[in-house]
Amino acid sequence: MYNQLISKKIKMAVIGLGYVGLPLALEFAKHFSVIGYDISQRNLKLLQNNIDPSNELGEESFKNRDIIFTSNSEELREAGFFIIAVPTPIDKYNKPDLRPLLSATLTVSNVLSPGDYVIYESTVYPGCTYEECVPLLERVSGLRMRRDFKVGYSPERINPGDAEHSLQNTIKIVSACDEESLDVTAKVYESVVTAGVHKAPDIRVAEAAKIIENTQRDVNIALMNELSILFNRMGINTFDVIKAAATKWNFVPYTPGLVGGHCIGVDPYYMVHKANELKYHPQMIASGRFVNDSMGGYIAKQTVKKLLSNDLPLLRAKVLIMGVTYKENVSDIRNSKVADIVKELQSFRVAVDVVDPKADPHAVEEEYQIKLLSQPAGKYHAVIVAVAHREYVQMTENDFKQLLDPKGLVVDIRGVFKETIKELRYWSL
Ligand SMILES: NC(=O)c1ccc[n+]([C@@H]2O[C@H](COP(=O)([O-])OP(=O)(O)OC[C@H]3O[C@@H](n4cnc5c(N)ncnc54)[C@H](O)[C@@H]3O)[C@@H](O)[C@H]2O)c1
Repeated sequence: MYNQLISKKIKMAVIGLGYVGLPLALEFAKHFSVIGYDISQRNLKLLQNNIDPSNELGEESFKNRDIIFTSNSEELREAGFFIIAVPTPIDKYNKPDLRPLLSATLTVSNVLSPGDYVIYESTVYPGCTYEECVPLLERVSGLRMRRDFKVGYSPERINPGDAEHSLQNTIKIVSACDEESLDVTAKVYESVVTAGVHKAPDIRVAEAAKIIENTQRDVNIALMNELSILFNRMGINTFDVIKAAATKWNFVPYTPGLVGGHCIGVDPYYMVHKANELKYHPQMIASGRFVNDSMGGYIAKQTVKKLLSNDLPLLRAKVLIMGVTYKENVSDIRNSKVADIVKELQSFRVAVDVVDPKADPHAVEEEYQIKLLSQPAGKYHAVIVAVAHREYVQMTENDFKQLLDPKGLVVDIRGVFKETIKELRYWSL
């Protein structure tokens, strides 16, 4: 397979060209002939004009690549090595929504031929590839895994907005359904990952490894969030406590904050789902989710409390929220917990304005029914800096004074302005 890919006798297909699939497809397209397949006509139009719909990659990333972008599944018949990188979200009951994954699997099943490889990159619970995807591939294609085609799993570790850790310089986990296909899969990925690959002994091990990377972060952040609620009652600043504790060699400095996005706030629910199937009720994982999911409401209530204790008129209060994306310096608004703050403040009839230099206003309105302003409008009783975008961390106390009523309050969720704000009323997690 590797020789056929490198000699371009067989093509590689990447199904799903989002944050994960696109950089991967473009990197492989330096070596192999790649078909980039996606069902979004809007994204395909942009991709065909060398524009990354997620704004992560510049035009130069498309130059000198052997790649076509299509939504025509018939073109996939030329491919023999399929990589599936479609979303794996949760539904409104926090249960895994496998519809995109199974739909992409069905697309591949229809064009699968003997000798082909199907590698999953989407984050799933341990066992999902064998239990959900392989039966569909076998049923629709009429072929048998191992005998006729091979299956593998290689979780993605990219961190949007992070220029330091890339696909190339981060060790990639690879796994496959047998020894032979593991070697081939490893060789294919080694052609783009200079840091090398880690061969996991089983697909379920690789699936579990990905899930626990994010679950561990979720639980650790939840601990810091819980401590920040406690320290707030004591009148101690959590960031001061963390700074002091971090002087010990084995203290890991996680910080409190909102946990949104498509990974850390979602993946633990996949683990909870699998645990429930096994009749085990995971306390740690579930309580981590509970604490982190409650933080938006908590921050809003603390803001209201501070407004009242500063003798500010709640019914006529105006609050500005700066930042709506799920984290700093990205445009991704999926599972933004800032929307929870807005909702909670509005339930107290507080007027809320929201600005964000990165987020797409149409997407924000469609997803959360929040109209983004291009600029703050007038004076506010409180400014909540929800996301530490580059544009915001440079702000001075004077910049905040321009935005605030003289008795106004700065709510600094990430503790960025702790040292710079001296005169204004200030609160952080
Ligand atoms: N974004 C991250 O930082 C990140 C990091 C590691 C792992 N992951 C995981 O990788 C997977 C993909 O995430 P993403 O952030 O790239 O998602 P995304 O939403 O950015 O992109 C997914 C793409 O798949 C397309 N798509 C959806 N259904 C399809 C189908 N049936 N056939 C073809 N294309 C389809 C969408 O149009 C979209 O362009 C998820 O499982 C996610 O959990 C994401």
